[in-house]
Amino acid sequence: MVPSTLREIAQVVGGTLERVSDPDLVVSGPVVIDSRQVQPGCVFAAFVGEHVDGHLFAGQALAGGAVCVLASRPVPGPAIMVADTLAAVTALSGWMARRMTAVTRIGVTGSSGKTSTKDLLAQVLRGHGCTHATVGSQNNELGVPLTVLATPPDVRYLVLEMGARGIGHLAYLTGLVPLDAAIVLNVGAAHAGEFGGPEATAQAKGELVEALPADGIAVLNADDPLVAAMAQRTVASVTWFGYSPRAHVRAEHVHLDEQGRAGFVLITPSGKAPVRLRLIGEHHVANALAVAALAHAVGQDVDATACALSQAMPLSGGRMQRHDLGDGTTVIDDAYNANPDSVAAGLRALLAMSAGRPTVAVLGQMAELGDRTEADHRAIGVLAAELGLDLVIAVGGRDAAAIADAAGDGGVHHRLVADPTAAAALLDEVLPAGAGAGEGLPLGGPAGSRRTPARAVSSHHPGGDRPAARQAVQGHLGITGMSATTMPVVCSGTCAMTSPRGERTLVGP
Ligand SMILES: Nc1ncnc2c1ncn2[C@@H]1O[C@H](COP(=O)(O)OP(=O)(O)OP(=O)(O)O)[C@@H](O)[C@H]1O
Ligand SMILES: [Mg+2]
Repeated sequence: MVPSTLREIAQVVGGTLERVSDPDLVVSGPVVIDSRQVQPGCVFAAFVGEHVDGHLFAGQALAGGAVCVLASRPVPGPAIMVADTLAAVTALSGWMARRMTAVTRIGVTGSSGKTSTKDLLAQVLRGHGCTHATVGSQNNELGVPLTVLATPPDVRYLVLEMGARGIGHLAYLTGLVPLDAAIVLNVGAAHAGEFGGPEATAQAKGELVEALPADGIAVLNADDPLVAAMAQRTVASVTWFGYSPRAHVRAEHVHLDEQGRAGFVLITPSGKAPVRLRLIGEHHVANALAVAALAHAVGQDVDATACALSQAMPLSGGRMQRHDLGDGTTVIDDAYNANPDSVAAGLRALLAMSAGRPTVAVLGQMAELGDRTEADHRAIGVLAAELGLDLVIAVGGRDAAAIADAAGDGGVHHRLVADPTAAAALLDEVLPAGAGAGEGLPLGGPAGSRRTPARAVSSHHPGGDRPAARQAVQGHLGITGMSATTMPVVCSGTCAMTSPRGERTLVGP
């Protein structure tokens, strides 16, 4: 955090110092709420959670080097006592953010790709100046303040993923943290049900650029009409990105290599340079262009941007991550979260990577789609058929059935299974060792038949025990929370695979 004395912090949060021997002690460490993240010089904020009371860990946090505890109940050691810890953390982060005048504070929002883009941007800006960014997807009213409060003192760029679940959420976050620059990636179908449709989503996402000052930078997607319209809602100058010729920063000669990674020529007002992304899927081109547009607007050289984009790695798990199992099987896990746009992007990447090999998609259900739920699930099955995938395994209940049915109507082999364990078992059976390009998968029943039971598959491949594939699928789908015990949204992820010459590739959008 911005170096501050304990006395200042107590004043900002309206708290009282207790058992603090030196109120003028300067703190510059982060504020953490998890005792496992305690580091010397931090402040431990004790939250009362549903299951755990953070105050019980206060002693442990102090022993681990925390300078004091932000607490709403008595704790054994130095504390700043407040009525409400969340309100205190929020107030402190707003105060800190307003003091960061030498820092370029950047917000990233959009329906899909916030985390991917934020991770790319952080890696690109690091070459230009010390950068601090959101870890993972902590983009809400707690994650944003904690990210601000974890900012080291000498930072030049602060990159904040900002999410919204409704109108007013981004206005709240930007009211707390003044932004100098903002990226709006897209307004898609993700969370559309929660908002009440794409127009309402656009209304909510546009709050990010409304908050910018006249000397601010708004980076907007020229290809997305609902994002493009946000130019009317900001006094900041707009840098456009996209495929559109009117975009300031755009891509030409886009192509995917056999691993589904995009290469393109980055065109900016200050020059052009070749980029080869390490991320899988063409959808990352738009994310990379948004990053390049921001980098251009803050004065980064196009060659440096292209080079950093080409070296950037996926930082947050579960998004188009490739895992080679060592037996020729590759798992690509994109099951962190799923929405109609991201699943479509993942399926297209699967096809790009198949190189004529059989392809299998394991698709979970998508949440938060409101009255578009059935149509959006059917559309995924239709796309699977249009792409000519070899097998769709839909995991879940009624929504998964809509995917399977639409895939079947389009002539694709399809199965409906109840849970990831059944999906993994089915994969064991349909991934025969040694199947090569041009060879079919041992699928039971004609493609158009409705939901052939998994039993029919095993009878076609009695010896098919693939523990590695099973473990991979269960493991990777497990990460995604497809187990009902770990996440309320069951099967929110998707996964797909393709089987090459003697190799097998498993891909998951
Ligand atoms: N520009 C894009 N268009 C469509 N899908 C995308 C795009 N960028 C990323 N994705 C896909 O969307 C999914 C979620 O990606 P990511 O975590 O980056 O998005 P997010 O907006 O941060 O999601 P969340 O709302 O859960 O925080 C992944 O499957 C990813 O591959
Ligand atoms: Mg995210």
